[in-house]
Amino acid sequence: MAILITGGAGYIGSHACLEFLKAGHDLVVVDNLSNSHEEALRRVRQLAGRDFPFHKADIRDAAAMKRIFASTPIESVIHFAGLKSVSESVSKPLLYWDNNVAGTIVLLHQMTAHGVKRLVFSSSCTVYGDPASVPIREDFPVSAVNAYGMSKVTIERMLHDLVRADPSWRIASLRYFNPVGADASGRIGEDPNGIPANLVPYITQVAVGKHPFVSVHGTDYPTHDGTGVRDYIHVTDLVLGHLKALDKLEAGPGLVTYNLGTGKGSSVLEMIHAFEKAVGRPIPHRLLPRRPGDVAEAWADPALARKELGWQATRGLDQMCADAWRWQTMNPNGYATA
Ligand code: UD1
Repeated sequence: MAILITGGAGYIGSHACLEFLKAGHDLVVVDNLSNSHEEALRRVRQLAGRDFPFHKADIRDAAAMKRIFASTPIESVIHFAGLKSVSESVSKPLLYWDNNVAGTIVLLHQMTAHGVKRLVFSSSCTVYGDPASVPIREDFPVSAVNAYGMSKVTIERMLHDLVRADPSWRIASLRYFNPVGADASGRIGEDPNGIPANLVPYITQVAVGKHPFVSVHGTDYPTHDGTGVRDYIHVTDLVLGHLKALDKLEAGPGLVTYNLGTGKGSSVLEMIHAFEKAVGRPIPHRLLPRRPGDVAEAWADPALARKELGWQATRGLDQMCADAWRWQTMNPNGYATA
């Protein structure tokens, strides 16, 4: 029996494929390659020394999904496929509702039709909106201020309704904080389309000279140095949390929700300084006004995942930066370098 990984060619999906293969699981991967590269999967196969079928298909394509479920016995699904740009979701809301929400509905229908009722869903700390306090616990209220966030809130709600209607489902919803870094091999990593909106890929591109400086968005937040604070988590730690979540589904039916974060907040300036250590020279940056829509501080209370999954992040900022830097220097133009 295999695990179906949707969005397996993407940044987090490709790292998940690698760790699941290393743990001995058989995989089937589906990805529409809209924001990802088949080259990532070629490298995953190489790194793991194992093969798996890949289907270039869109999860919204019910006929294609039906063929995939019919082609291999599937026992569970790890669902990464989705769009993730906040700004794009504001300008193209229907694209986000369609890809993320409608796509998940097609997937859930196909899972139901094929008797597959084990799911690990890729949610986000974005569901907490602007939290009233930090650290953020799973029982904090959910709220979303843009279509991307609302798509995650909606899918979580849908999963809740599904489990209530049919208690035999086993579902884990994992709320990611800020995934960064790359596999220690430097062979797979984050390869954003166009100019990155997220801090870490932007820093690495400044460090290789693609942009002149990092814009520090906001220096007057009520944080220790005035810049935004986030819970950066190494992508390998994050995907290992999925392996633990899948194990947890063995324990019994129902819906469980966990934060995947380190429990440690780092500011934008601390992140830039950590990168300077990894790169060995200063990273040019400019102090600028706040970016609309950003919150001052968001970091996890990861105690529930530690207690119930036996999982915790072990890789610190230095390793996140060193691994992101290795990926960037080995692949200055991402997968297009190959
Ligand atoms: C963003 C999304 C979040 C999504 C996550 C996915 C927004 C408002 N939030 O999180 O919903 O789940 O990406 O990875 O877009 N910063 C700079 N300069 C930059 C870029 C960022 O100073 O060029 C700062 C931001 O103000 C923030 C921190 O760096 O304080 C992290 O930003 P980013 O990497 O974009 O992540 P989030 O905004 O936390």
